Amino acid sequence: MKVPFIDILRYENGFYETVTAKAAELIKNGHFVGGPVVGQFEAAIRDYTKTHFALGCANGTDAIQVALRAAGVEKNDVVLLPDMTFWATFESVVNVGAVPYTIDVSRETLHLTLASVKEGIEKFHPKALILVHLYGWACPETTEIRNYCREKNVLVIEDGAQAIAVKLNGESLLGKAQVATTSFYPAKVLGASGDAGGIFMADQAVADKARILLNHGRTGHYDHGLIGWNSRLGAYEAAFMVEALKHLDARIESRRKVCLAYRERIRNPALKFLAPAAGVWENGYLSVALMTPESRPAFIEYLKKHDIGYGTVYPGAMSAQPGADAHIGGKISHGHAEWIAKSIINLPCFAYMTAEEVDFVVTTVNAFKA
Ligand SMILES: Cc1ncc(COP(=O)(O)O)c(C=O)c1O
Repeated sequence: MKVPFIDILRYENGFYETVTAKAAELIKNGHFVGGPVVGQFEAAIRDYTKTHFALGCANGTDAIQVALRAAGVEKNDVVLLPDMTFWATFESVVNVGAVPYTIDVSRETLHLTLASVKEGIEKFHPKALILVHLYGWACPETTEIRNYCREKNVLVIEDGAQAIAVKLNGESLLGKAQVATTSFYPAKVLGASGDAGGIFMADQAVADKARILLNHGRTGHYDHGLIGWNSRLGAYEAAFMVEALKHLDARIESRRKVCLAYRERIRNPALKFLAPAAGVWENGYLSVALMTPESRPAFIEYLKKHDIGYGTVYPGAMSAQPGADAHIGGKISHGHAEWIAKSIINLPCFAYMTAEEVDFVVTTVNAFKA
């Protein structure tokens, strides 16, 4: 048996036929960018996430850039972000002309803590913080960090690229954020048929500015009130996601079962499976285990030998990337992000993975000898 790390083509019965028929309609009607289907998707995802304002855009990276600008981040502003995230979080800060400062994450929760945020704010006096939620979880101290930043007048933009549908204490994580973003890259929990992203906002003025920014700063057809981007959501992507959204809960249920099966049934002392913190309802984006940095290379070879896909999300800290040197304003590092980068391992996890595939992974991993 061969089990890929991810297989995004396990569509529900009828899904492929429905979306291709919708694509044919769009071509016939000349709806390629924007149009009614984009509005339909934005309303559907707004309701799903229980947010006040939701906008579609071209990808999850643009979503962060537009969100930073819409929330009020300007040239040369200091922006804090976790040292463990995807490069897009760092990149976005630089692309809006602001200066990224990385702060370390916890070895236990792999996310920012209130203490690390306090340390960053005291040392660097930022205008904003990008609070990142990884692995289909929520940063455990989200509420405390939101409250503390409000008190200190620090804007919080939440990078929820991996966190669609995640709940924190029974409520929509992204829906409760002041400003949050997501990615609808095809491999995400809610994936489009190409690149796409979303911005979720609590405030009308921020939403109005974001809508202008992602469409060339347009305030009228040929009136440009701001320097923005072309980051409009394509009609196919929106149509694909209107359909995908109808199946999202079933897809998530299936992913969550895989994560749970690994946590309950893999009993190999070489791997320590992590679960989301208390109060966090995961979306099953990734299974997360930690190993010692010394044992991981042999385990990876073992998985390759047995045709089992794997991930190391992410294998490097942001401040250690070659591209960071020219832009980073400062960092607080306790070595945790670097350690996580060498220790993390993700096993196959995707919607509609079969029971046989899960059994094969569980049995094979249990038989690994470090
Ligand atoms: C945490 C995080 N932020 C931002 C992004 C960027 O999203 P996109 O690839 O849609 O630009 C991703 C996507 O991989 C991500 O995982």
